[in-house]
Amino acid sequence: MPDSINKVGTVVILAAGQGTRMKSARPKVLHPVCGRPLVAWVVDQALSLAPRQLVVVVGHGGESVVEAVTVAAGATPVTFVTQEPQLGTGHAVQMAAEALGSDPGRVVVLYGDMALLSSATLSDLVAAQEEGGMSLLTFEMDDPRGYGRILRSAGAVTGIVEERDASPQERAIDECNLGVYCFDGAQLLADLPRLTNDNDQGEYYLTDLVALAVEAGRAVTTGTLENSDEALGVNTIAHLAEVRWAMQVRILEKHMASGVYIEDPASTTIDAGVKIGAGTHILPYTVIRGGVVVGEGCEVGPFTHLRAGTVMADGAEVGNFTESKNSTLGAGVKAKHLSYLGDATIGAGTNVGAGTIFANYDGKLKHRTEVGQDAFIGSGTILVAPGTIGAGATTGAGAVVTGQSAVGADETWVGVPARPISRAADREQRADDATDEQE
Ligand code: UD1
Ligand code: MG
Repeated sequence: MPDSINKVGTVVILAAGQGTRMKSARPKVLHPVCGRPLVAWVVDQALSLAPRQLVVVVGHGGESVVEAVTVAAGATPVTFVTQEPQLGTGHAVQMAAEALGSDPGRVVVLYGDMALLSSATLSDLVAAQEEGGMSLLTFEMDDPRGYGRILRSAGAVTGIVEERDASPQERAIDECNLGVYCFDGAQLLADLPRLTNDNDQGEYYLTDLVALAVEAGRAVTTGTLENSDEALGVNTIAHLAEVRWAMQVRILEKHMASGVYIEDPASTTIDAGVKIGAGTHILPYTVIRGGVVVGEGCEVGPFTHLRAGTVMADGAEVGNFTESKNSTLGAGVKAKHLSYLGDATIGAGTNVGAGTIFANYDGKLKHRTEVGQDAFIGSGTILVAPGTIGAGATTGAGAVVTGQSAVGADETWVGVPARPISRAADREQRADDATDEQE
């Protein structure tokens, strides 16, 4: 029984290749795109089709790829298949045949290096597949970037030829194969053993299934892209940068649509999964990595680096050459110049003076520093962690507050190492003395 319209039984992701053209020791699908491995974006695509099962073919960099896929898939179970050696995209799907089971339903095959495909485009591909036939995504490109070319006769697709196997006339074709297919699962299982490796690379090409389908008179149909940037795959480091930027633009546009003013998108990096409240202003040359939360009405930048675990409450401001990691900034906190906020909790209304360093690392371990509300940290203060600074306390310019110090509420500490010059108890005493004198 064919699945009902637009229902996908199985998604297979091919992620076993080495990515030789990347000239990188890291497996291609683990290169980061906006803070997530390339393959994580492809897992999202697969999940958007809500398949009954998800099969991922791994090989090169096996364990680390399994880990990245597992994280991205979250609660969805994944069947991993190992392809060793890697003898081509067709061989990769052959290795997955057993995992597909006897009734895989509609099977969508995705390549692990195509990060930008939208769920709308994938739905279109699935809708284009006719009973017993296969569908694929194609796109006319000015720069075919080494992609396979779509052969047509009288308008109908007749095959795919890889660039390295193509004649000069075939290379001139601008309609390219994007490497995304939807098959009738039973037909796929029947056709897979018929692939040969009779080509320039001596590989089993998945793309040869197109000619097999055409020979047998089965429908080969094509789906269209929602947006042209979806055609960008990653085969080289230059492609990686190009795909990252396309993804970055999507992320920036989403934030701007929800009321975040990104003054200079071209110089702003914001990873996937960052939350930013409306009315916040991001100034140029700012980098916000994954795992950061910025409240409403905040100001970030210019030249600011927010790293994982940074949480800024509403109205907090972090500026020029300030880096923050794993730190919580209360409402209205200001740290506007030349500071490192590492493993700190900073109470609302506190002012962190220029050049303040939260020295969180003792050479072996990281420690935290707690600063209360409305404190005033003088310029050039070094707060050696662990330590606490009470609410309303002050440190003098250049103070070095050594580890394990507990600066009390409203106290003022100065010097190297920092010592209290005014303790709350002293002030109370002075106030008492003054009262005594008046009496
Ligand atoms: C492939 C297509 C080409 C298409 C292009 C689009 C084939 C033969 N060619 O070429 O028509 O234009 O994608 O991006 O399919 N992989 C494995 N095992 C292998 C080989 C590859 O799992 O043995 C995986 C890779 O990890 C990668 C994907 O399959 O994620 C595609 O492999 P790649 O080598 O990038 O194929 P292309 O040369 O780009
Ligand atoms: Mg590729």
